[in-house]
Parts: sequence; C-alpha cells; structure tokens
Amino acid sequence: MTKTLHAKSLKVGVCYYPEHWSSDMWDSDLEMMRHMGITMVRVGEFAWSIFEPKDGEFSFQLFDEFIERAGQFGIGVILGTPTATPPAWLTYKYPEVLNVSLDGIQFQHGLRRHYNYNSPVYQQYCRRIVEKMAKHYGENTHVIGWQIDNELNCEIDVFYSERDHEAFRQWLTVKYGTLDRLNHAWGTVVWSQTYTAWEQVHLTRPNPSHSVNPHQALDEKRFISNSVMRFVENQTEVIRQYAPHQFITTNGIFGHLDTHELTERYLDFISYDSYPNFGMLADDESLRDREWSFNLSVARSVSPNFCVMEQQAGPGGWVNRIEQPTPLPGQLRLWAFQSLAHGADAIVFFRWRTAPFGTEIYWHGIFDYDNQPNRRVAEIGQTINEVSLLADKLAGSLVQADVALLRDYNNDWDGEVDTWHGPYTKKSVKEWFRGLQTSHVPCDVLNLSETTQLADLRRYKVLVYPHPVVLSERVTELLEQFVSAGGILITGCRAGLKDVNGHCRQVSMPGPLKNLFGVQVSDFTRIQGAYEVPNLVWNGDESSSGCIHAVDFNEVLQPTSEDCTVLATYDRNYYSGTPALVQNSFGKGTTYYYGSVFTRELAKKLIELTGLVDTENKLVSTTEEVELEIRRNPLTGDRYVFLLNYSGQPQAVHLHHGCRNALNGELIEGDLVLDGYDVLVCEVPDGGATARG
Ligand code: GAL
Repeated sequence: MTKTLHAKSLKVGVCYYPEHWSSDMWDSDLEMMRHMGITMVRVGEFAWSIFEPKDGEFSFQLFDEFIERAGQFGIGVILGTPTATPPAWLTYKYPEVLNVSLDGIQFQHGLRRHYNYNSPVYQQYCRRIVEKMAKHYGENTHVIGWQIDNELNCEIDVFYSERDHEAFRQWLTVKYGTLDRLNHAWGTVVWSQTYTAWEQVHLTRPNPSHSVNPHQALDEKRFISNSVMRFVENQTEVIRQYAPHQFITTNGIFGHLDTHELTERYLDFISYDSYPNFGMLADDESLRDREWSFNLSVARSVSPNFCVMEQQAGPGGWVNRIEQPTPLPGQLRLWAFQSLAHGADAIVFFRWRTAPFGTEIYWHGIFDYDNQPNRRVAEIGQTINEVSLLADKLAGSLVQADVALLRDYNNDWDGEVDTWHGPYTKKSVKEWFRGLQTSHVPCDVLNLSETTQLADLRRYKVLVYPHPVVLSERVTELLEQFVSAGGILITGCRAGLKDVNGHCRQVSMPGPLKNLFGVQVSDFTRIQGAYEVPNLVWNGDESSSGCIHAVDFNEVLQPTSEDCTVLATYDRNYYSGTPALVQNSFGKGTTYYYGSVFTRELAKKLIELTGLVDTENKLVSTTEEVELEIRRNPLTGDRYVFLLNYSGQPQAVHLHHGCRNALNGELIEGDLVLDGYDVLVCEVPDGGATARG
C-alpha cells in the first residue's frame, strides 16, 4: 500500500513562528490568514527551548494559547517535533549528543541539526519531549497532524560521533554475523584491511589517500539511512499512541536516507520543501526553476499525492551563505501551480513574515518586516483564490505518465563515491528529463527496491534506467518480465557491472543484462580529454553524423543475439565504425542499449522512436518553454491539463479540442497566448479528447 495524502480538498497553509512575534500580533496575523484563504499553519519545529526551557521543566502555555486562537480562526495546526534543535542546556550537559565531522571535529550549539541520531541519551530526550507533546496535544481538535523533526539529513548527512561508530558496529554484526562475512563483503584482503576484532571496525575515517573502501562507504550510507529510521520510529511510536487521529509526515528529501522505506514504514505521506528559486542561479543549459519539476516527481514517487510543507514565498537568503534574486512577478504563482501539477494536494508557504533576527533575516516570507501589503501578498492571495476554484475537483487526482525514469538508492549512494558512474547518472537523468519536458511528454520517477512489483513497472509503456551499475538478481528478473510482457526498456553504459555489495562481476558486461539487451561490451574508455567525443552515425548514414555526441564514456558493443540491430555507430577514435546504440527484441518487448552517457538530443530521438509523443490524440501544441502535466481524477475520470510558462515571454498555445479554463470557467479552443510566467489549467471532462501533449 502506497502512503499518500488523502485530502478531500486542496489545502493551503503557511509556516508560522509564534515564538518570534509578540502575542499581540497573533490575532491580526490569523485574521489576515483567514482573509487570504489559508486554513493551516505549521508551527513548533524549532521550539524545544520554549517547550522545555530547562531539563525536565515543560511549558506549553505559549503554544496552547496560539493553537487555541488559530482554532478560533478556523485554522488547523501542524505541529513539528522540535528535535532538529536540541537546546543549549542539553548539548552542554551531554556533548555526546553532538555530531562530529569526518575529520573528528565536534559540531557545537549555535544553529541547528548539530545532533547525531545514535546517542542513546539524545534518543531518550527526544522521546520524552515528543511524548509530552503528544500527550498534551493528541486530543486537541485544532491539531491536525505532526511533522517529525525538520528536513532530516539536510545541511549534513554524515555522522561520525563515537556513538555512531558504536552503532555502526552493532548494525554490521546483525547484517553480517561474522567478521569473515564482513571481510568478504568489503574486500578487505586488498591492502591488508582485514579485521580480526569488531573493535577495529569503524565508519570511514580520514586517511592519507583521501579515498575510501567503496564497499564500506556503501554500507555506511545504508547504516545512516537505518539510523534515521530508528530515530523517526522513536517519535512516531509515541505519537501514534497518544495522537492516533492526527497524521504524521516529515518534510524534505535529502541524501543518505531511503525516504521511500521511511514513508512506507512510519509516515502517512511525505512532504517536500520546494524552492525553485535556487534554479534561477543555474546555467542556461539547465531548465532553471523548471528543474524543480524533477524533484517534485521524486516526491510523487514516494506519495502520489503529497504536501509541499515549504513553498517558496519570496527571495531566499541567509545572512552569509545563501543568496537568491527576488522572484519575478508571476513566478511565485507559477511555482505553486508547478507543485499542484506534480501531485501536491496541500501547499504550505514558507513563511508568513520575514524574521527580523537570526540567520534567516534574508529568507523572505509573504510579508516583509514592515508587515504591509506588498507584491508577494497580492500574488499569493490571487494564487490561493485560484487554488480554491480547483480545491474539490483536483484533490486525489493522479499525475498521468507513460514513461518513468528508474532510480534506486544503491546506485545513488555507490555513485557518490564511484566517479565512473555517479556523475553519468546525474547527467543522463537530467538530460532525459529535459528532453521529455521539452517534448511535452509527462514522466514519472520510479524507485526500484527489493519490494517493487511487476505491476509497478507495467503502469508504463517505456522505462529509462540510465546507468544501473549496481544491480540485484531480483531487479534483473523484474526488468526481464517487464520487457517480455511488451514493455520498452532503455539503458546506458556501465549497466550490470556490480552486485549489491558493489563488487564488479567477473563476467563480460552488461553482466546479467546480456540476454535482455542481446549485446556484449567488448571494449570501453572514458573520454576525459584523451579521446575525441564521437558523433553517432545512424544506420551507416554518414550524413547523420554531427547531431548527437557520445559523451563522457564509450563502450564498444557487440551484438550477441540475432534479434539485435545496430542503430548507430561511433565516428572516431580507434573504435570508429563500431556499434554505439543497439535495439533488441525480447519476448513481446523491445530494449535499447546505449554504450555512452545520454544527451538531450539522443533522449529526444529515442522519445520519437518509442512513440512517446502521441501525435494522433494530441490535445495541446505549444512551445518548448511551456511545461505540460496532466492530472486525472480517478473517480470522475476528468483530466486537468496544466500548462506552465517558465519564460518571461508570451508563448503560443494551440488547443486542438475545446475545453474549459478551470481558473475562470471560460470555454477555450484554438490559438491562445500564454503570458510570461503565466499558468493555464484546462479541464477536460471524462470522454473528452485524449489529453496528451
Ligand atoms: C528549509 C528549512 C526551513 C528554512 C528554509 C529557508 O530548508 O526547512 O526551516 O530554513 O529552508 O532556509
């Protein structure tokens, strides 16, 4: 069962810090929120020193009063557990709760996220404060749900305190049972790393080569993920006990945490924090703020309907670190609709008013320090009005996609260390996403794990698994079953190289995928300046050369099956004329193996070849600048087609069939113009034109 947000109606909220403001301001703030259509506030996630000013002395007065008043204004409260900010009295008394860097430097009190997950003392203190809060607020009808901690593994996702080293040893004892097995899995025979007693085993530590044992490094990430889960469970257990009617979520998706497993086991749904303004600083090659659509697709792969717990409400900035331009008129609204287009059923803006003190004095809220109406207040107000028009119809509707980009945690984590594949995956995924976005082909992200079922794959016509270097036998079988039943699978270089311990397989590549792709890798090289970047030559036609580059890594392919056809060859280096891209038939399906790293141009070519652009049933034609996403209500069958213009220039849109503009009720058809940063949501009743871009 997938954990998802079951909302009957879309909800809009705001992050609020009652402890930052005089209580005299609360009523006017809440009144203004009600006036703007805000029905939720998230509070409390950093307020440990308010809830427990001294060890064992608890005080709920401030939040009791605020929550009561919020309730009177019809505003529901999401309560954060304050465990991202252990108070000074705690860290002073028990320095063991603090996190330590790889170099052995202990982090100190002063900002946030300075704790480690494995200190038993910290776990006890967290459990106590969360238990007190859950007992106190569990029956409070104004409290609708809980956010665990804040952005687990944000800011830092490695932990090297003594308690972490100890817990790692315990975790390894359970995983491997004996040192022999551990030594084998970590390949410790290399360079005399063999361990003869458990005390000798540690998390990765500084060493003269500034490198790591890759198998140990992979286990370290699995261990960190497991530590976070136990840390979360320690809190959800008590909340479930005392607050069974309130939901539990957490916000953000960060490194070294299997957010899919976390959500499945302990949460009701995932929440994501969306700050597309970071993208405005990126280079022109990127999709800039539109890249956030990929992040939102990852959130959707965890919970098909999710909450955006922090939605950008102004320019972001820390006093010394993060700097962002002011969102242009229209962009805040555009980004809110971007979240909705990708499956969000709740949006909570960060934050109500900019803090006049602290590290985040430049992380701007809806209101500025002066608390006066401004451009952002007006734009967000308009957005909330429009969201309310969609609220009942759109809630629970699901994003539609025929293609999914496959990913998994083993490859993400191994790829952080292994530069012979990690950067390739990052590049290929981005290029595929960009190719799909600009071809107006909506796509999902699908996380592969040992619990993934064939039915999860069969929801798609095409799967793209760019570089599955670490590959288990079970996932190989799933992929074979998917293709055999008629699916299309596309993959790139280095596939099948490693087993789940990260050991290279002692067979020719692509190892277990050889049959599926009907191919063998007979030679390979990194490009790295030593070789020229080849072009692809299609079907031996030299004139096709020059459009698509085989970047970063080249594998020389050798078909091993009669059904395998060479689609393109390399045009230079000593392997000029050898196969670079092949197509194979397997059962009722088709596979494509590419011996290199994907570019947007090749992705577009494969999008065409695999028939992902449905020209016959097209509803909309528009320019590359416009994103197209479709949500379908599973009960009514009605579809909502989102068109989002990320450019400042007006863009042409052609609607091939008549439909209703869901934001103003007008009937629309034919040629339209979408203004710079504007949004259009078309309502297509069930049985209307097949909505595909
Ligand atoms: C998020 C965090 C918020 C706030 C915001 C702006 O990552 O959860 O508490 O810090 O960024 O920096």
